[in-house]
Amino acid sequence: MQKVTLHNREFTLFLSTDDIQRAVEEMAIKINHHMEGKRPLFLVILSGAFVFAADLLRRIHVECEVTFVRLSSYSGTQSTEKIRELLGLNEVLKGRTVIVLEDIIDTGHTMDDMVHKLRHLEASDVKIATLLLKPAALRKDLKIDYIGIEIPNDFIVGYGLDYDGLGRNLPDIYKIVAEY
Ligand code: IMP
Ligand code: MG
Repeated sequence: MQKVTLHNREFTLFLSTDDIQRAVEEMAIKINHHMEGKRPLFLVILSGAFVFAADLLRRIHVECEVTFVRLSSYSGTQSTEKIRELLGLNEVLKGRTVIVLEDIIDTGHTMDDMVHKLRHLEASDVKIATLLLKPAALRKDLKIDYIGIEIPNDFIVGYGLDYDGLGRNLPDIYKIVAEY
């Protein structure tokens, strides 16, 4: 599909399944290499990262654990600074290597908040892995360890990312068409 319409807004194809899978594969190779013998805990940020996490984790061959938190900061096409934690963390993180898996880092508020929480829970090493990064939107000083693809500051959907609840099931990533 070249175009999709969600809630009456038009989106055009931006990243194909092949583009995405290539980025996921490269990231998996690096993580496998760096995490040998460290038994990391992957922390998947729901909802958006569920597709990325499913693809990445099936390429991780080191011994690891996987857990989930559910956060929400977006309303429509705007990131808000208020991050709601909708499903909490139950694992003991003290002394662990935690790799946070995120679909996209936009302003960085969500990730900054998460990293502070993980430090507070005394994780010994916190790494950040994001499929997508909008460098022009970033407002926080974050050390991002693994970046799949850097993209312009446009609103996108698909591959787990939604526009007000729709589009998460699309296998490719689409970019919003500006309204004039
Ligand atoms: P941040 O806190 O501004 O970095 O936003 C991060 C969260 O907002 C991500 O986890 C996404 O779920 C969501 N988000 C950011 N940009 C987009 C986008 O272009 N499309 C859909 N969701 C987005
Ligand atoms: Mg997200």
